[in-house]
Parts: sequence; structure tokens; C-alpha cells
Amino acid sequence: MTDSDVALVTGASGLLGAAICRALAATGLTVLPVCHRGLDRAAELAEEIGALEPVRADLTDPAAAMDRIRERGVSPGVLVCAHGRTLRRSVLTPGDDDGLWDVNVHSVTRLAGSVGKGMLRRRGGRIVLVGSRAGSVGLPGQAEYAATKAALSAWAASAAWDFGRFGVTVNVVAPGAVLPGPGSGSGAAVYTEEENRAVADRIALRRLAAPEEIAGAVAFLAGPQSGYITGQTLLVDGGARW
Ligand SMILES: NC(=O)c1ccc[n+]([C@@H]2O[C@H](COP(=O)([O-])OP(=O)(O)OC[C@H]3O[C@@H](n4cnc5c(N)ncnc54)[C@H](OP(=O)(O)O)[C@@H]3O)[C@@H](O)[C@H]2O)c1
Repeated sequence: MTDSDVALVTGASGLLGAAICRALAATGLTVLPVCHRGLDRAAELAEEIGALEPVRADLTDPAAAMDRIRERGVSPGVLVCAHGRTLRRSVLTPGDDDGLWDVNVHSVTRLAGSVGKGMLRRRGGRIVLVGSRAGSVGLPGQAEYAATKAALSAWAASAAWDFGRFGVTVNVVAPGAVLPGPGSGSGAAVYTEEENRAVADRIALRRLAAPEEIAGAVAFLAGPQSGYITGQTLLVDGGARW
């Protein structure tokens, strides 16, 4: 195993992160899963797919998280940030953001900056951030969440310039509505069946995404076929129109 073959995946204990770990492992990459509270889930997944032992870290403390990652002695050639959480609240309801920007934005950009530096030295690498369709078109009742995801797309479009001359690509996969599963946590948008039906009616494919369908897009942008794509936000939303 060389460092270029190692894919660090955050949110590995969550719905999309776990699907992404499986998809990347299936392409032959050695996955280094990162989780926070869900160590048992991440460890089970690591065993299932032959990944490295998961790193447990609170990514809102990026310096401490990087220390834990460095302890593993690898400098990943692929980074996928699939951690995050939602905040359902009207802008008319008073209250602070509960650390939403720390989790959804600052932790992502700091981690990508640090892990990306290792890629510069090797003159190649892939950074893929999991954003959201909400970051492009908004989401009723979740203005703050949508704004954090828009920030990721703007960061990737800009960071692509810093990393580009070193052959490192930076992209965002922006899922639409995803079917919740047993691994869903606080990052997942969980709706009632009635809400899901109403959402599906406004999607060209008339259904919500399976986590694997989001993971497939991530695996493409993390793989060798996507070398001339950078700074982009790829909507994976089944042709949603709302
Ligand atoms: N599911 C959807 O419908 C959907 C649609 C569009 C976009 N997204 C985005 O996709 C990403 C993943 O969503 P998901 O559905 O997979 O959510 P999820 O099942 O709730 O997973 C969230 C993951 O984020 C990790 N995490 C949260 N706070 C953390 C912290 N401080 N430090 C380290 N890890 C932390 C969690 O780790 P622990 O559990 O180990 O604490 C968990 O692995 C999120 O950014 C979400 O906004 C999801």
C-alpha cells in the first residue's frame, strides 16, 4: 500500500460516509475511516471492507484531529469529507447556530487544507467534499444549513486554483434527498413518508437517492477518470426541480 492509495473518509460512521467507504474500497483504495461518536459502527464497517482501523476524532478541533491522523503514519492521496449535520430552524426563530459552521465548514476547510498539503508534495490527489443541493437552491426552514453548504462549493471553486498547479483536484458532490437508512444520524435530513412522497413528485426520477448512488459520484471524482474536473459542484439529485 502506498500513500496515494489511501483514502481518508470522514463521517464514516454515518449514512453517506459508510456508503462512500464501501465504494472507494471497491475501487481498490485502502480506506482510512474517521468518525466521532460512532466508533463501533465505523469499526464494524472497517472490518467488513478491509479498511484501516478507524480514527476517532472531533473534527471541530482540526489540530487535534490532524495529530490523530498523522499518528497513523499515512499521507492520504484521496480525502472525502462526508461529515456534517443539519439545523432545521426558521431564520425568524432566535438562537445561535449551535456550532453548525464549525462542523459543516471550518472543520472541512481546515482538514482539506492540511491533508491537501501532503498531496501537493506528491503532485497529485483528490479532495471531494459532500455538500448539498440546498447549497445551490436553498431549503425551506434550513437557511443556515443551506448557507454552510454553499460555502463549501465556493471554497472548492476557489481552492481548486491553489491546488490546481500541483495536480490536486477539489470538487463537491451535492446530494439531493437521500433515503435515510439504519446508519442515518444528525447529519441526515429525515422526513415523514408523506414528505418523502411530496419530494419524490418533484424529482425527475420520482424517487429519493440510495446512499450508494451518491457514493458512486464521489468514487468517480476521487478516481483516475476525473483528472480534468476541478472546482465543480456536481448535483446528484435525480433531476430535482424545486
Ligand atoms: N442524507 C441526506 O439526505 C443528505 C442530503 C444532502 C447532503 N447531505 C450531507 O451529507 C453529509 C453526510 O450526511 P449523512 O446523511 O451521512 O449524515 P449522518 O448519517 O448523520 O452522518 C454524519 C456523520 O458526520 C459525523 N460527524 C458529525 N459531527 C462530527 C464531528 N464534530 N467530528 C467528526 N465527525 C462528525 C458523524 O460522526 P459520529 O456519528 O461518529 O459522531 C457521522 O459520521 C452531511 O454533510 C449532510 O449534510 C446529506
